[in-house]
Amino acid sequence: CGIIGRVGDGNALEPLLTGLENLEYRGYDSAGVAVQNGSGINVEKRSGKVEELKSSIGEPLQGEVGIGHTRWSTHGPPTDANAHPHTDESEDVAVVHNGIIENYTELRERLAANGYEFTSDTDTEVIPHLVQYYLDAGYDSEPAFRQAIDELEGSYAVTAMVSGEHVLYAARRGSPLVVGMEDGEYFLASDVPAFLEYTDSVIYLEDGDVVVVDEDGVEFTDLEGDPVVREPETVEWDPEQAGKGTYDHFMLKEIHEQPTSLSQAIEGRIDPAGGRIALADFEPGTFADVDSVQFVACGTSYHAALYGSLALNQAGVQSTALLANEYSVSAPPIDDDTLVIAVTQSGETADTLTALRRAAREGAATLTLTNVVGSTAAREADDALFIRAGPEIGVAATKTFSSQAVMLTLLAQRIAADLRGEPPADLEALLPELESMPAAIDDVLAGSAAKTVARRYSDSEAYFFIGRGLGYPVALEGALKFKEITYEHAEGFASGELKHGPLALVTPETPVFAIFTGQEDEKTLKNAEEAQTRGAPVIAVCPDDHPAVEVADDHLPIPDTEPDLAGLLANVQLQLVSYHAADLLGRPIDKPRNLAKSVTVE
Ligand code: G6P
Repeated sequence: CGIIGRVGDGNALEPLLTGLENLEYRGYDSAGVAVQNGSGINVEKRSGKVEELKSSIGEPLQGEVGIGHTRWSTHGPPTDANAHPHTDESEDVAVVHNGIIENYTELRERLAANGYEFTSDTDTEVIPHLVQYYLDAGYDSEPAFRQAIDELEGSYAVTAMVSGEHVLYAARRGSPLVVGMEDGEYFLASDVPAFLEYTDSVIYLEDGDVVVVDEDGVEFTDLEGDPVVREPETVEWDPEQAGKGTYDHFMLKEIHEQPTSLSQAIEGRIDPAGGRIALADFEPGTFADVDSVQFVACGTSYHAALYGSLALNQAGVQSTALLANEYSVSAPPIDDDTLVIAVTQSGETADTLTALRRAAREGAATLTLTNVVGSTAAREADDALFIRAGPEIGVAATKTFSSQAVMLTLLAQRIAADLRGEPPADLEALLPELESMPAAIDDVLAGSAAKTVARRYSDSEAYFFIGRGLGYPVALEGALKFKEITYEHAEGFASGELKHGPLALVTPETPVFAIFTGQEDEKTLKNAEEAQTRGAPVIAVCPDDHPAVEVADDHLPIPDTEPDLAGLLANVQLQLVSYHAADLLGRPIDKPRNLAKSVTVE
């Protein structure tokens, strides 16, 4: 989601709307603005794009102070009521927020018991009511804002204003926020591109910062109100390029967003201290009667589905992953205890919707795993689980694959626990590793081996990817990414299958990427050596201390982790190899020829 706020002379509406247009790459399912005029706060908000908001603002809103938001839904569908800004009943306090308030149910119950009325399904709406609660209790605006912020658990970037004041209040924890300044005009935004037409002089908030902005300047404090010093910086970006930040392509940006998108996916959904999956999206025992699971999906989402299906099989639950476009001719039998899970980033893929509808007709329970709240697949299934990855602009899916696979790993453990009535034995080892996945991905991203490997093998005839167990869907995904964006021939195989046919293709001109996840690695290493004997260079994707490093011609390192997750770290290395290979070839990486982000025909 994107946040913009502005204080200064002259009307705030234009800079707010420009900011929202600049931020639309961060979310585009709803948008809104609130402007402070002499008589109070005026709010205009609606589902749809910023363009639609612009044309629906009849009488231009007048006022010098305002806030705006472009939304990517995580709680509640993209309706007018769920769009930001959110206010209290009397529109005395208006708030825009990014992130997730984990204790919102608790806060909402408390405030509702005190007579505060809620009009949306969002977690955000607790914030204006909470500020109002303290204003009603006699606090001044700034202490009321601080007190409300102090009670929020989870992650947030919040910007708020109180009726009748020329002031913006903002706070950051876990979600970015930046101040822009130019000659008595001040901006607050979730990202610099929001206000780059107006100023390049910025100060980044750090976690725990609270800022108060008025025409006279910006005051930085910590939550207790003690001053903190933050230095201004000048950004050197071209506004055109700014949506991509410092990255040349959205794909590279999205690869680098994975530590954040994964944190968002698992936030509040695992409980390492309690040794359990805290997937509150489902009541305890929801899956107790499931006797088999079928996944339906296409493209990259199919690879995530296969990952989930293998994880379920390994947890002792019967499961199959099926290509959605094959489902109508060859669906396995369905009964009342079959759960069909549609995996789809967009929630709009026609093949997947057709399979989902067929499953529902035949009496299966249905669940959609998607990135888009309010999408057709989310609405039509009995239940929906959201990966919270934020918008993905590059046609080649990257961050949404890792979030899908991690969510399916959680779901597999949860289904197995519901079926058995107790958590699976290996959960205790898995949970801390899941929690440290964002840091492990940061480690992978900090290395440069992928670029070197891409350069070294850039003249090859074809590229093969092999993996076993949970490394197999990663091999398929590694090859799909490579072919999508480089236009070179790439194939993924189960390691053990190489010798049953594909070995005939192997030559010194066909590098083989071997993925090691800790599941029968010795066999995968033998398979890689079989290719190496035929002259193929082998690139091992594995931890530094792995025996494959000695054997292989090249090495893409990954941190040591549990087998359930190792393939996802390997996948980040493979995403980077594909990206750099495509970049060397000068391909249009974000928009490969003949492909669309979402295919709405069968
Ligand atoms: C298209 C895209 C793929 C994507 C597939 C499924 O073919 O080009 O990148 O994996 O659709 O999309 P979905 O939105 O259902 O995950």
